[in-house]
This record gives sequence, C-alpha cells and structure tokens, in this order.
Amino acid sequence: MIHRSTILGIGHHVPSKVVTNHDLAKIMNTSDEWIVQRTGIRERRFIEENGTGASDLAMPATKMALEHAGLEAKDIDAIVFATLSPDFNFPGSGVLLGHKLGLPGVPALDVRNQCSGFLYGLSVADAWVRAEVYRRVLVVGAEVHSTGVEFTDRGRDVAVLFGDGAGAAVIGAATHPDQGLKSLEIHADGSGAKDLWLEAPASAYIPRLTHEMLDRGIHYPQMIGKQVFRWATEKMPVVARSVLDKAGLRPDQVDLFVPHQANLRINQLVGDKLGIPEAKTVHNIEKYGNTTAATIPLGLSEAWREGRCQRGSNVLFAAFGSGYTWGGAVITL
Ligand SMILES: CC(C)(COP(=O)(O)OP(=O)(O)OC[C@H]1O[C@@H](n2cnc3c(N)ncnc32)[C@H](O)[C@@H]1OP(=O)(O)O)[C@@H](O)C(=O)NCCC(=O)NCCS
Repeated sequence: MIHRSTILGIGHHVPSKVVTNHDLAKIMNTSDEWIVQRTGIRERRFIEENGTGASDLAMPATKMALEHAGLEAKDIDAIVFATLSPDFNFPGSGVLLGHKLGLPGVPALDVRNQCSGFLYGLSVADAWVRAEVYRRVLVVGAEVHSTGVEFTDRGRDVAVLFGDGAGAAVIGAATHPDQGLKSLEIHADGSGAKDLWLEAPASAYIPRLTHEMLDRGIHYPQMIGKQVFRWATEKMPVVARSVLDKAGLRPDQVDLFVPHQANLRINQLVGDKLGIPEAKTVHNIEKYGNTTAATIPLGLSEAWREGRCQRGSNVLFAAFGSGYTWGGAVITL
C-alpha cells in the first residue's frame, strides 16, 4: 500500500472576459461599493462564447497541471470532475473531458458537492492512489456560473457573487517520506439544503419544469445569505483545526492557507479564528468571485506560480458550501 498521495502537478484557467462590479451595476440595481464592502469581489471572469462548458475550461487547466507534473494526458488513469454547473445535465463533465483529452476507456466520476467538491474529489483520488486502484488521478474543479444566474434585481444577491473558472490537480503517490496529503476530512448536513439550492428542473416534480417555475425563477440558485455566512464561519475553523491536529501541525506551521473563496469577510474571520495571518492566506476572490469547486485548485495553482509555496510547504485547505458540505485538508507539497 502506498503511504501517501500528493499533488504531482496543478493548473488553472479562467476565461479572458473580465466583468467588473461597475459592469453589473449597469444591468441591475447594485453598486461596486455594496459588492466590495460585503464580499471583497471587484471583478469576475465570464465565458466569451456560447457553447463553452465546464469541461472546456477544464482543458487548459488540465494541460497546465500535466505540464507541471511532467506528464502527458495518456498518463491519467482516472478522472474526478467536481462541478455544480456541468456542461449538460447528463452525462457528466468528466466523460466529456476524458473524450477531449483523448482517453477512451478511462473512468470518469462527476462529484456534485458544490464549493467542497474539490476536497470531496481529492478524498476519492487519495483513496484510489493509496489503495493502488489507479496510479494517477486527475481531480478537476470547474464551473460556468455566468449562464446560470439571474442578472436582474431579483437575482442580484446571488448574481454578483459567482464567476467562471477551472483548476486541476494530478494526484499520485508521494515519493518523499514527509511529503503528501497528511489529513483530510469531508462532511455534509442536508438540514440546510434549501439555504442555497437550485430547485428546478427537478426530478421530484411532475413535470420537472413548467412556465410557472420559470416565471418564479426557481431555475436560478436561491440563497439565504446570512444563514450560509453563519454556517461557513462556524464550520470552517472547526474542520481546519481538526485536520491540523490530525496532521500534527500547529497553525503557525502552516506556510499557506488556501480557503474556498466565497466571501473575503468569511475568510478573514476564519483566518483570525485560526491565528493564520493574511500574508499566508490566499485571496483571489477580488479577481474571480466565487468559482465554487474551482477556488481551491485555482488558488493553489496561482500561489505556487507566484512563489508563495514550493515543494515541502505545508498547505491547509478549508471549504464550505451548499448542501451543506464542508471539508479540510493538510498537504505537504
Ligand atoms: C450574500 C451576502 C454578501 C449578503 O450580505 P448581507 O449583509 O447578509 O446582506 P443581506 O442579504 O442582509 O442584504 C442586505 C440588503 O442588501 C440588498 N442586496 C442584496 N443583494 C444586493 C446586491 N447585489 N446589491 C445591492 N444590494 C443588495 C438586500 O436586498 C438587502 O436589502 P434590504 O435591507 O433593503 O432588504 C452575505 O450574506 C454572504 O456573503 N453570505 C454568504 C454567501 C456565500 O458564501 N455563498 C456561497 C456559499 S459557498
């Protein structure tokens, strides 16, 4: 049995179209001041063209991750694709990505765990690698939100938060004794499912989608923002402390903290509770908004390339999202 898995390579991709808060203020009743004060977001990226799905954004991110790992597409033995905005309802984006990468026969699993999706995917990849089921697993987080939120006064609370983007990591066996994923926890509590959800089309309803549902706008995500905020600031520090304990690390031994990017205020509160300084924390929400399953690999990929971490660095991840789902992990790169 392999002792630990690790990140062999990481990559990211965002579309080139920048949409600022001022751009959004032209089409709905919002303002740069409101968005920056409450969330820290200044701009986000949207896909340029009709027909660009999560699997398309995942392609360049995967290529970057493979290059970083010194591997080629044919070296991937399995794909785990985390997204809440798959290209289509079915089949999953993982099979579409596998096809685009030229990998017939390679298994592809879609993970539907929203903002915690990357950590859920990492958990599966880690288990597969350690049990020697698959040698190299591609874990992707990719989202196209811009086609799925409502740019009107009714939808403004959600629409201003999200952006499009992708991150990808190649997971394989760690080669050094102190390297690799040292702890990982994932959690779920469906009691808050309706605090942040996209209700329709719904298999539970006959029919799944009606004109009346479209009029009510329940084919757009609905959120009780204050509830989500409360849960996130409670659960993220607890899970982060727990994974640090399991990894045998104190907060001051963390070289880089990569939290999910839902709200700058959430992450500042979580960092304060943990005693991890801002200088060691990745914030890119101001540039990209919330890219859901992509935030953690995207944040780590940028930070690695900026020289904020390197092989041997202790990195802490923490995520919270719809479900509710949440998780944390500690990895020595
Ligand atoms: C969304 C969030 C920024 C809203 O901040 P808030 O301080 O809770 O704001 P509220 O929802 O109470 O709304 C305050 C007012 O701003 C208004 N408002 C909502 N969205 C707005 C927008 N985009 N622009 C301007 N005003 C807006 C509301 O209608 C409300 O007006 P009212 O007081 O007249 O009723 C905050 O709750 C949050 O970040 N929650 C967590 C969300 C999250 O992380 N989601 C992703 C999960 S991974």
